[in-house]
Amino acid sequence: MAVSQQVFLRDAMRRLNLTRDVFAARIGVKRRALDTWLLPEGSQEARSMPEVVSRFVTEIVENGALMEKYAQSAQSGSLRDRIAIDNKHQLLSVDQFTRESVEELCRVADLMQPIARRQKVSRVLEGAVLGNLFFEASTRTRVSFGAAFCRLGGSVCDTTGFTFSSMAKGESIYDTSRVMSGYVDAMVIRHPDKGSVAEFAAATNIPVVNGGDGAGEHPSQALLDLYTILTEFSRLGKLLDGAHIVMAGDLKYGRTVHSLIKLLALYRGMKFTLVSPPGLEMPDYLLEQASKNGHVIEQTHDLAAGLKGADVIYATRVQKERFSGENLEGYSADFQVDRALVDACCGPDVIVMHPLPRDSREGAHDLSTDLNHDPRLAIFRQADNGIPVRMAIFAVLLGVESLVQHSLRDVTWTPPSHIGPDDSVFHGMY
Ligand code: NCD
Repeated sequence: MAVSQQVFLRDAMRRLNLTRDVFAARIGVKRRALDTWLLPEGSQEARSMPEVVSRFVTEIVENGALMEKYAQSAQSGSLRDRIAIDNKHQLLSVDQFTRESVEELCRVADLMQPIARRQKVSRVLEGAVLGNLFFEASTRTRVSFGAAFCRLGGSVCDTTGFTFSSMAKGESIYDTSRVMSGYVDAMVIRHPDKGSVAEFAAATNIPVVNGGDGAGEHPSQALLDLYTILTEFSRLGKLLDGAHIVMAGDLKYGRTVHSLIKLLALYRGMKFTLVSPPGLEMPDYLLEQASKNGHVIEQTHDLAAGLKGADVIYATRVQKERFSGENLEGYSADFQVDRALVDACCGPDVIVMHPLPRDSREGAHDLSTDLNHDPRLAIFRQADNGIPVRMAIFAVLLGVESLVQHSLRDVTWTPPSHIGPDDSVFHGMY
C-alpha cells in the first residue's frame, strides 16, 4: 500500500461518506478492530489490518466511485437513455454502443460478478416477469437470459420452438409482440429471420433484447465476448487497442462474428484476420463498416497462416441450417483449430474462444476438444460471462443498475469453489 493504513482507511470512510460504526459494519469487522487499525503507526495498541480487508475496502471504494459516475451520467443521460432507440429501451444491435457506453456496461457486469459467482443475492427485479421467446434452437442463450433475470429476483416465462407457438397458426409478429407485452415486463426474442426482432420491438414499448435474428446480429453474445476478451487481457496484462483478432469459420452466416467485429472496431488500431472456407466469407457490408477507423482487415482461406501472431482466436460452427445452396457438410480437417495448430502458430498467452455450441459430431471439424485442459481455451469462462453481462443488460434496460450494490445479501447455500472439474485456476479469479 503506497499510503499508510490510517490514511487509506480514513480516505475510504470519507469517500463513502460513512461514520466509523457504519463503515465497520459495512466491511464486516468489529468497531474495536477498526479503531486499532486507525491508530497512528507505532502506538502501542495499533494493529495491522489483514490484506483481505484492504482488498475489500479497495473494491467497495471503487464501486462507490462507479456509483458516483452513474449519478453524474444520470444528469448527462443514463446509459439506458444513451443506448435507446427512438426513446425505447431495447437492445437490437451493437450499433447502439460507443466505446464509452460499452465499457460502462462492462463495469455494470463487474458489479454483477458477486451474484453471478453465487456469493451474493439480489432482488432488484422482484415482481418483474421476463418473456423468453425462442423461435429457433438455443440452450445457453435462453437459459442464461432466464437465469440472469432470476438472479436479479425476477421470474421467467418461456416459449420454445416455432411449431409450438401461435405463429404456426399464422399469427403476425405485431400481434404476438403486442399480446406478450400485456403479460411480461421485458422480452428476449430469437427468431430465424434477419430483422424480425426489430419488428417485434416496433410493436411494443417494453424492453426487447435481440437473442439472435437469423444471420443478422447477436448483440448480447458480442457483449459477453468483448467482456471476456477485456477480462482475459486484464489478467494477461494486455490492451485491446492494437490487438490481433482471428475470426475463423462460417463468417457468412455466423451472427456472433457479425456483431463482434463491429463492437471490436470501436477500439483503436485493430488487426482482424478473417479465415473462412471459400463461399463462407464475411459479408461486404460488415467488412466496410469494420474497416472504418483504419483497422487492418485480412481475409484468407489458410488457417495456419491466419493464426500467426493472434492474440485471440474466435472459432465458429458451420451454420448449416442457414445454407441456401452452399455445398458443405462440415469443415475440412484444414479448418480445425486444435492444440497442435495453436502450439505451432500462437504464443502462450493467446486466448481461444467460440460462442458455442461446438459441433462435436465426427467430420464436423469444429474447435477440437484436445484443448479442453489447456488454460488458453476460454470457452467456458466465456459462456460463464453470459450471466453477469446479461444481468447488466437487464439492469440497464430496466433502470435498476444503481440499486444493485446496496441490495446485495450473502447467499445461504454453499456453491462449489470451481464449477467445472477441469477449470484453470488463475490468481485472483477462477
Ligand atoms: C450462436 C448462435 O445462436 O448464433 N450460439 C449462441 O447463441 N451462443 C452460435 C451458433 O449457433 O453457432
